[in-house]
Amino acid sequence: MDSKIKTLNDKLALAHLGGGQARIDKQHEKKKLTARERVNYFLDEGSFEEIGALVTHRTKDFGMEKQQFYGDGVVTGYGTVNGRLIYVFAQDFTVFGGSLSETHAEKICKIMDLAVQVGAPLIGLNDSGGARIQEGVRSLGGYADIFYRNVQSSGVIPQISAIMGPCAGGAVYSPAMTDFTIMVEDSSYMFVTGPNVVKTVTNEEVTSEALGGASTHSTKSGVAHITASNDIECLESIKRLLSYLPQNNTEKPVDLNYNITDEVRDVLSDIVPDNANKPYDMHSVIEGIIDEDSFYEVHKDYAENIIVGFARLGGKSIGIIANQPLFLAGVLDVNSSKKAARFVRFCDCFNIPLLVLEDVPGFLPGTDQEWNGIIVHGAKLLYAFSEATVPRVTVITRKAYGGAYDVMNSKHIGADMNFAWPSAEIAVMGAKGAAEIIFKRDIQAAEDKEAKWKEKEAEYAELFANPYSAAERGFVDEVILPKDTRRKLIKAFSMLENKEVNKPKRKHGNIPL
Ligand code: HXC
Repeated sequence: MDSKIKTLNDKLALAHLGGGQARIDKQHEKKKLTARERVNYFLDEGSFEEIGALVTHRTKDFGMEKQQFYGDGVVTGYGTVNGRLIYVFAQDFTVFGGSLSETHAEKICKIMDLAVQVGAPLIGLNDSGGARIQEGVRSLGGYADIFYRNVQSSGVIPQISAIMGPCAGGAVYSPAMTDFTIMVEDSSYMFVTGPNVVKTVTNEEVTSEALGGASTHSTKSGVAHITASNDIECLESIKRLLSYLPQNNTEKPVDLNYNITDEVRDVLSDIVPDNANKPYDMHSVIEGIIDEDSFYEVHKDYAENIIVGFARLGGKSIGIIANQPLFLAGVLDVNSSKKAARFVRFCDCFNIPLLVLEDVPGFLPGTDQEWNGIIVHGAKLLYAFSEATVPRVTVITRKAYGGAYDVMNSKHIGADMNFAWPSAEIAVMGAKGAAEIIFKRDIQAAEDKEAKWKEKEAEYAELFANPYSAAERGFVDEVILPKDTRRKLIKAFSMLENKEVNKPKRKHGNIPL
């Protein structure tokens, strides 16, 4: 028996060494943790149970039968994060550069199947040179097996991808189909084809960082939802993200059981400037409303004219979508519409109520936007809100103009409660532009055109640059004082807690893509 136990221990010790000490040292030199270090840091201490530690590849070509490493380049298993069950895989760059073989893919698929059957989040820690080149189509098949499972699990369990090293070729498509992608700055990149292929095909010279580093994907493409400055920060960020989410789509997020008091927040009273053309930071409104330090922003540096993220309100998890007057006056454009639509749909999948803070002058005009399909992308947001069945509440802080009024979670498309501050202006457009169009003849006929224009602008503003016309029709449920907003929202979401919507049977809708 002793010798049998020794055999097992020797094998496990080898598995723990991955591709060997020299390659582990190389990983550390790059300021990266190894796959095992990442898993152990991420999960509650001592909670990790490994599955498939002794799996090896089956390839015989290119002398591969002589190069065997237990685990085959990926550490897989389950454990807990803050006591909640989590499935995890971590690619091991020290074994064939973390490249994906047939057996490596089988290991990932095994825990993906368990995660969706049991109903717990799946976290992928990616660090891989892509398809195992020695395996050809077997590796491609392995990727497709993973992609298929990503899609079957979508909307059933939360799936989060951390990019903690290279992520090239087909490897990018699994993260792209998960709910959130977090990239580590300066040590990770994602692209379909690397700089060398780019140079050959398009003659373009570009570095890996510029082509697909964290800064590129968090500001330009929107592929990365969150960035972290190192491995530890990345893993901590995922833990925090998980705290807002339920285990699966049949559960609600954890409720921290908060006792409501008077909840007056005077700080909210002075944020919106008197001058409607002056910007202000919508983050101040968010911070004024939510539980202290509870905002977890997603896509922070991408399409900054809209803010999205998770927060707690009275101890409950909510998703916030807020126009940001500081950037492009908070206008809706192609990127902000896509960003917000994706976030709305995630929250709706996982029973996270939606709070919309609205100050929007409309859609961004111009050829750039039209040629890039603002019609179809704006429709995404309209569609996403219209199909969402979670509790939905809107607060109009200032402008709610034009089509954007309809799109930003109006009552007409299914919002449950719509509040407005006294500073709200709910109209087809700003008073100046409106007066110019509908009183064009009066203005042209007047001796003092400027004075006439001003007079008509004031007339239009009197009628629409306020929340009362909408309140009279019930499009706004209540005009509230800013300082009371937190209390009103806690009560509204509490009232909506057991909301249920039964929809007619259909295979799935056809969201404009
Ligand atoms: C097998 C690989 C590998 C791969 C790296 N290695 N990528 N082995 N298949 N795809 C091995 C290397 O041989 C090396 O082995 C070790 O991993 C570390 O690699 P290095 O090149 O020394 O590391 P580094 O300089 O850090 O560069 C990392 C890298 C580079 C940028 C990822 O290795 C690289 O460009 N690899 C190929 C990327 C690629 O083109 N992949 C295929 C994409 S196509 P030793 O023994 O020396 O440690 C694809 C199609 C899928 O994925 C489509 C699905 C739909």
